[in-house]
Amino acid sequence: MSGRVEGKVALVTGAARGQGRAHAVRLAEEGADIIALDIAAPVASMGYPMGTKEELAETAALVEATGRRVVARVADVRDRDALQAVVDEGVGAFGRLDVVCASAGVSPPARPLWKIPADEWHDVIDINLTGVWNTLSVVVPPMLAAGNGGSIVVISSGAGLKGVPHLGAYSAAKGAVVQLAKTLANELASGQIRVNTIAPGTVDTPMVTANTQQFKLFRPDLAEPTLEDCVEGFRSMMPMGQPWVHVDDIANALLFLASDESRYITGTVLPVDQGNLNRAV
Ligand SMILES: NC(=O)c1ccc[n+]([C@@H]2O[C@H](COP(=O)([O-])OP(=O)(O)OC[C@H]3O[C@@H](n4cnc5c(N)ncnc54)[C@H](O)[C@@H]3O)[C@@H](O)[C@H]2O)c1
Repeated sequence: MSGRVEGKVALVTGAARGQGRAHAVRLAEEGADIIALDIAAPVASMGYPMGTKEELAETAALVEATGRRVVARVADVRDRDALQAVVDEGVGAFGRLDVVCASAGVSPPARPLWKIPADEWHDVIDINLTGVWNTLSVVVPPMLAAGNGGSIVVISSGAGLKGVPHLGAYSAAKGAVVQLAKTLANELASGQIRVNTIAPGTVDTPMVTANTQQFKLFRPDLAEPTLEDCVEGFRSMMPMGQPWVHVDDIANALLFLASDESRYITGTVLPVDQGNLNRAV
């Protein structure tokens, strides 16, 4: 099957690399024009690098290589005016907006919640929660005005549905965006705009593979654990036995929710996590 989102226009946040890039490219392969944005700059309180301008340009080139059009811009999801400008430019260029994937996010160093520094707490909440709200706020008006319906997908996390020790701010923000998406699904159903959430388990992106400060979760016995030291720890959490899933596994779920194949699915949370959330023990 091809052309599953033919003629649609999709906006993807956090598109410089990782899942966001995979979403942009997968949607383009299936016929969508893409509005892509990323902060493309460091977030000081995080212990790993963010995407870069060069990576955002590479995403744009990958989209164009599929034959689809792209507007790729640097924007911080904490800056609602900047998001508004990107949406205005993208909708101006492509004439519509049908699909939105809010994928931008950060994952802070692992520590008990009473030890989270205030700046780190605010960055996680501002990006992973308020950044999603900002995104939803600027995309809904043009989608409603167009009257074409549409599909919005928020990337939450398995950590948003469980209280993951040492990831308190992250779990709180990811849990909150599930409720935000469910609320919006109720608000937009009559407008034929669907809103769903994907809850990935571990995915092999730099958020995990370059996030060395989280490796201690798996190997507190080592002074400076490497990713290799942690592979078995990641694997041990997963009933299906892989340490992580691939970005394409999340992009394929996104594509289904973005396409009309899921036209009556709204308000749901779709885990893509090797059965981790459903584990009996
Ligand atoms: N990787 C995992 O294991 C995993 C698991 C569950 C959920 N998630 C979620 O999936 C989403 C995508 O993460 P990923 O795995 O692709 O990680 P990633 O770090 O590779 O990509 C995240 C992208 O978001 C961008 N970004 C960060 N802050 C931003 C901001 N303020 N404004 C705009 N862009 C910003 C980064 O520059 C980066 O390019 C995130 O919301 C993350 O929390 C990831």
